[in-house]
Amino acid sequence: MPEKHLENEHLMSEPSMPVPQGFFDRHPGKPHLSSFKQYEEMYKESIEHPEVFFAKMARENLSWSKPFTVPKVPVAAPFSANDGEPSAWFVDGELNASYNAVDRWAQKNPDKPAIIYEADEPGEGRIVTYGELLKQVCKLAQVLVNLGVKKGDTVAVYLPMIPEAIVSLMAIIRIGAVHSVVFAGFSSGSLRDRINDAHSKLVITTDESKRGSKIIETKKIVDDALKTADQVSNVIVFQRTGTKHVPWTEGRDLWWHEELAKYPSYFPPTPVNSEDPLFLLYTSGSTGKPKGIQHTTAGYLLGALLTTKYVFDVHEEDTIFTAGDVGWITGHSYVVYGPLLNGATTVVFEGTPAYPTFSRYWEIVDAHKVNQFYVAPTALRLLKRAGEKYVTPYKLDSLRALGSVGEPIAKDVWEWYNDNVGRGKAHICDTYWQTESGSHLICPLAGVTPTKPGSASFPFFGIDPAIVDPVTGKELKGNEVEGVLAVRNSWPSMARTIWGDYSRFMDTYQNPYKGFYFSGDGAARDKDGFYWILGRVDDVVNVSGHRLSTAEIEAALIEHRLVAESAVVGFPDELTGSAVAAFVSLKTKDVSNVDAIKKELILTVRKEIGPFAAPKLILLVNDLPKTRSGKIMRRILRKVLAHEEDQLGDISTLSNPDVVAHIIDVVKASR
Ligand code: WTA
Repeated sequence: MPEKHLENEHLMSEPSMPVPQGFFDRHPGKPHLSSFKQYEEMYKESIEHPEVFFAKMARENLSWSKPFTVPKVPVAAPFSANDGEPSAWFVDGELNASYNAVDRWAQKNPDKPAIIYEADEPGEGRIVTYGELLKQVCKLAQVLVNLGVKKGDTVAVYLPMIPEAIVSLMAIIRIGAVHSVVFAGFSSGSLRDRINDAHSKLVITTDESKRGSKIIETKKIVDDALKTADQVSNVIVFQRTGTKHVPWTEGRDLWWHEELAKYPSYFPPTPVNSEDPLFLLYTSGSTGKPKGIQHTTAGYLLGALLTTKYVFDVHEEDTIFTAGDVGWITGHSYVVYGPLLNGATTVVFEGTPAYPTFSRYWEIVDAHKVNQFYVAPTALRLLKRAGEKYVTPYKLDSLRALGSVGEPIAKDVWEWYNDNVGRGKAHICDTYWQTESGSHLICPLAGVTPTKPGSASFPFFGIDPAIVDPVTGKELKGNEVEGVLAVRNSWPSMARTIWGDYSRFMDTYQNPYKGFYFSGDGAARDKDGFYWILGRVDDVVNVSGHRLSTAEIEAALIEHRLVAESAVVGFPDELTGSAVAAFVSLKTKDVSNVDAIKKELILTVRKEIGPFAAPKLILLVNDLPKTRSGKIMRRILRKVLAHEEDQLGDISTLSNPDVVAHIIDVVKASR
């Protein structure tokens, strides 16, 4: 069970709010759906006859080089007993993802902006039309083919938020290869692990990158990673800053601009089977080793397309600005795939919400008349703290849908977003989903669904959620129940496996609660049937919307020569949602400079994983609380951090109960 109950539990009993009238006043046409009743009817059909519902959607919204005749095949029989495995969708169909995302719109109107690039430095951006995008994609596709990349091969992408990130993804999938984007904030060690696990043969990167006016030596990080990744035969380097000091390996490293110039501007797409892999995206789980979540072509495309269309009510004329990084699933589905598959215009933003001022997002919204804006609550908390004076000067009257993602959004932040950004005229859509789900699971539909601040509301089409008792594994039916969140059925954009480790996939998602997909989150359903997400119930911590595994941080800390043992837990933080605390016991007791050691430990995590994973608090302790069988009791550590010493329960069963008083002292002294 989530240990901390929802802060705004009392909100569950409050009545819901209708879609603001301003949403309709600002709409140049009509929303895709006319009423909540229409959603309910469509939802019912999507659950009762998923193959009929999604076959129709897939035919209407995607372009197929070979139409499918079999909409859905449950992988394991008997499906009626649903064992939670993903089904296979549209199995005998063939299509190409880049054709669907780029060619279709380039053929219709080549001059239409596909990408609005907002560079880190205001004013340095540019617009890429669908026609131009298609050319770039075709040229890079030929470069890849010429370098020996074949259908099914994986290509690693280590790029900042620039249009070339989209060009890269589209070129890779154009030839039937599989992209594996690694967030450009990861260290060389993490990049290496991901390149090696995926057997990537080729890496695409930049000379350097720029964020919040800071320079990051991207190519150097790639070179460090490749010292122990022998299978990589080539690195394609896009010149982002033009620095003279780029480490270079002749024969292996190639300049993007020189290579692309060698090829003509059209290259035909390679059709792939619906169930062929589209991409891998590594994410954190309960164990130290990151998981390569594998998504499939047709199902993923359909999920990204339909959620963008219905949840944000995106139309072809719209400009959508998702302020997320392409290194995470939000960037994949709602910067790249969703907007392009709908033929809309997507904003690619390289910078931060605070540079050059806290008005940066709102400058972008007004400059490009953004219709849908999508961001994580952590950024909103930062902007709320900075003050309203950074928002009020902007018109923001093009906005119809305001999305939130990655962590629960507290009522005060929801209201700040609604009042200051939406001005009461935009629909706030709190979207709950995961890397594994590919697209939204529980979310309001803009223009359709009533909302309650802090609730993600109702399931998207095809998602049949269940609240399960964590102890008995039985479903808790009806309203006003709380437990762990599971999904009863499989849906088109559900991940199909963990790359190279199907048994881990089944152990993580299916085996915990037989018959369900297990989300890893706690949730409640209130008296009106609204869903409330209560946070992770496993060893995953959500820091600023970054999903971190405590086990991965522990594995990084143990790399330090002085560390005997460590236990990492999350604790609430006003700005980042959760923060990381590391309890560390050292091999030696006589340390003279405690502060220096703490700094070294933080540095170790930054180096092993990346700066975003650095613990906020390091607590040096003599020992960790353990059961007689040696299991570390992280629950006790969490309680002590949360000032809940009085709720520790029975600690007499610990092998070392005395350590608890010591830990309480250390935590108190740290404040
Ligand atoms: C959390 C990010 C509350 C949740 C799209 C989930 C949320 C994890 C919400 C997935 C939300 C995501 N409300 N919690 N609206 N959206 N989460 O894979 O714990 O990076 O399991 O995908 O983020 O994180 P991931």
